[in-house]
Amino acid sequence: MTEKRSVANRRDFLRITAAAAASASVFQPQFTIADEGVKGANERIGVGFIGTGGRCQTHIDIVNNLKAQGRCEPVAVCDVYAPRVQAAAQKTGGKIYRDHKELLADPRVDVVCIATPDRHHAQQAIDAVRAGKDVYCEKPLTHWSQMELARQIEEEAQKHERIVQVGTQYVADDAYAQVRKLLKEGIIGKVVHVQAGYFRRGDWGERMEIPDRNAKPGPDLDWEKFLGDAPKREFDVSRFFPCVLFVLHRNGVLCYRFALVVTG
Ligand SMILES: NC(=O)c1ccc[n+]([C@@H]2O[C@H](COP(=O)([O-])OP(=O)(O)OC[C@H]3O[C@@H](n4cnc5c(N)ncnc54)[C@H](O)[C@@H]3O)[C@@H](O)[C@H]2O)c1
Repeated sequence: MTEKRSVANRRDFLRITAAAAASASVFQPQFTIADEGVKGANERIGVGFIGTGGRCQTHIDIVNNLKAQGRCEPVAVCDVYAPRVQAAAQKTGGKIYRDHKELLADPRVDVVCIATPDRHHAQQAIDAVRAGKDVYCEKPLTHWSQMELARQIEEEAQKHERIVQVGTQYVADDAYAQVRKLLKEGIIGKVVHVQAGYFRRGDWGERMEIPDRNAKPGPDLDWEKFLGDAPKREFDVSRFFPCVLFVLHRNGVLCYRFALVVTG
């Protein structure tokens, strides 16, 4: 695979992942990769997952779906918590890592999906582009106390010619591109007011069961790595496991609305 083609394929991959992640409730990727003929196994995009908790499950489902189309291959999984990374390895066949830098050193990984807690995103994205990987990163790109890292990501991504795509709720939805096209082509007249939003109906936001109340730091749980650059504090199981559940696939229905008010 030439570098140019590789970058184009990775860009398509990231667009698909972003669109599909944004549409997670229905799980229907809205883009298709241009048909480039049958690829050899070594031409598949190798995907690594960093942080294999709740959000990552959607990433895995999407990548497994793309794998079935022969487009990419989940090759590596990383988490500081053993039960989760083991479950992700079972679901993907990916090699287990407990440190994201070790995953990044794996030459089979072309793209990483980052779904760790917020404060890890920026540094892990920087580490990834420095290691020559493209990045699909969950929102927010940085924790509020790390704004300087956002600038660094841009610099590093340009320097290493890598793609960094941030998945921020529905912002990657292709509805936005379609609206832009309609505006550009003059099909929609002068815009005087834009209203965009989405809302939830269902049991979102209920408390989430802590999967293992007896979890504690040790060989299965690396509390230091979990904390990262956060203030050092004693282990707390309810801090380690998030306590809010977003139910997408039960009764919850994600409704999406986009309205334009135009003249002429
Ligand atoms: N785009 C969306 O719609 C959306 C939806 C949900 C969550 N998110 C974002 O995804 C991220 C993850 O959320 P979640 O609900 O999956 O949380 P989670 O706690 O279920 O998963 C995070 C995982 O990261 C692991 N982890 C923590 N530190 C790590 C490290 N240093 N290296 C490797 N793994 C580490 C944890 O052990 C855990 O398994 C959050 O930033 C959240 O804002 C985005």
